[in-house]
Amino acid sequence: MTQHPLRMDNQWLPFTPNRSFKDDPRIFVAADGMHFTTHDGRQVIDGISSLWCVSAGHNRRPVNEAIKRQLDTLDYATAFSVGNPQAFLAAEKIAALAPGDLNKVLFCNSGSEAADTALKVALAYHRARGEGHRTLFIGRERAYHGVNFGGMSVGGIPANRKAYGPSLLPRVDHMRFIHDPVHHAYIHNEEPVWAEDPLLELENRILALHSPENVAAVIVEPIAGSAGWYIPPQGYLRRLREICDKHGILLIFDEVITGFGRLGTPFAADFYGVQPDMLNFAKAVTNGVIPLGGVICTDRIYNAMMGAHGSAPGHAIEFFHGYTYSGHPVACAAAIATLELFEQEKLFERAGQMGPVLGDAMHSALKGLPNVVGIRSLGLAAAVELAPIAGLPGKRAFDIFLDCYHHGVLVRNAGDVLVFAPPFIVEREHIETMVSVLADSIRKHA
Ligand SMILES: Cc1ncc(COP(=O)(O)O)c(C=O)c1O
Repeated sequence: MTQHPLRMDNQWLPFTPNRSFKDDPRIFVAADGMHFTTHDGRQVIDGISSLWCVSAGHNRRPVNEAIKRQLDTLDYATAFSVGNPQAFLAAEKIAALAPGDLNKVLFCNSGSEAADTALKVALAYHRARGEGHRTLFIGRERAYHGVNFGGMSVGGIPANRKAYGPSLLPRVDHMRFIHDPVHHAYIHNEEPVWAEDPLLELENRILALHSPENVAAVIVEPIAGSAGWYIPPQGYLRRLREICDKHGILLIFDEVITGFGRLGTPFAADFYGVQPDMLNFAKAVTNGVIPLGGVICTDRIYNAMMGAHGSAPGHAIEFFHGYTYSGHPVACAAAIATLELFEQEKLFERAGQMGPVLGDAMHSALKGLPNVVGIRSLGLAAAVELAPIAGLPGKRAFDIFLDCYHHGVLVRNAGDVLVFAPPFIVEREHIETMVSVLADSIRKHA
C-alpha cells in the first residue's frame, strides 16, 4: 500500500466495513469524465456513476460554473415562506420533463428524504379528502427507499431493517420480490415475460388481509436498483397501476435510480408507459455534485391539499413538512445546469444507445464463468449474480469489488450481485475494460 497523509481516525464511513478499511484504503482525490484519480495516483473508471449519480460524467464545466455563479449571487436563503428563482425554475424544468400531470415538486435533499416526504404526502392527502383511515403502506421485499424510518419501513432489504424492528412504521406490508431465478436468471435487454402474475398475491393476500380502503399507498422502485438491478416482468407496473386505481390507492414510483435517463427515457414511468401519483427523484438531478432530491406530485394531489384549506385563513399552512434546505438555490442551480446538459448533449438517448452495448458485453463475457448464476441488463445498467460462498454471503462479490478497484474499475457489490451503471458518456472502450476486468476477477475468485 502506498503511504498517504490521512489519519482517517474520525470519519465513520457509511455502508462500509470500517474495521478493514484502513488496511486497504480506497480514496479518490480527483475526478474527470469517466475516471477517478486515487490517493496513490491511479486512474479508476467510474463504472457505477458514483452510485447512479454522475450521469453526465465527472467535472462537467456547465454544472460547476452554475454552482460558482450561484454562490456569488444568492448563496442561500431560507425556504419557509420565501422563495428563490432557482428553485422555481428547477421545479418548472423537472415538471416539464415528468409525464402527465406530475407537476408539483416538493424539494428535499436526498432519496431517503424523498421517500419519507412521499409517504407523508400520501397520509395527508387521504386525510384532506376525508379518508384518514387510509394509513397502510405497501412496499416490496428487497426494496430500497433509503435509510430514514419511513423509507426503511417500506424497504425490504433485511440487513437494513433488522436492528430497528420495533421502531419501524407499524402499518406496512410487503409484496413479494420480482425475481424468478429458475426461468429468468438471464435477462438480456428485455422485459421478462412471466407465466404467472406476481401481483395476484397483492390482490388476494395483502389487500384481502388489510382491506383495500385502509391502504394509503404502494411504493415501488420500477426496477429494484440497490438490491441488484432486478427487472419486473412485462406488464407488472401497468397492472399495479390498475390495482391501485381500482382501490383508490396512491402509487409512488421511487425513481431515485431510474430517473433522469437511466433507461434511455426521462423516467422509468415513460419507459413503461405508466404514470404514478408521486415520483421520487434525487442523485442524477444535479449530476450528483450537490445534494438535491424531491417528490413530484400530481395536480390532483396538490389541489386536494389546497382545496381542503379553501376556507382556512390565508396564513394557514397546508402541509406541515419541509426541510431547511428544501429548494436550496445552489443545488437548484446545479439541477438547472444538469438538466440543460442532459438536453444539449442528448444524454438520455445516449444512455438508450449504450445500454445494449453494456448488456451485450456482460452477457457474452460473463455467462458460463464460474459461480455466475444470472445476468440482467436493461437500460444503461447490468448486473451479474454470483453463487455465494457457503456461510459467507456477500464475501465473493466484495472481494471482486476490491480486486476490480485495484485493477482500475469501480463496480458496485450488493450482496452477491455486481452491478455496472456507468455515466451516459461511457464509450465502448470503457465498457470493454470494465467487463474484462470483472470477468478476470470472477475467474480469479472461483
Ligand atoms: C430507489 C432509491 N431510493 C432511495 C434511495 C436513498 O437515497 P439517498 O441515499 O440519497 O438518501 C436510494 C439510494 O440509492 C435509492 O436507490
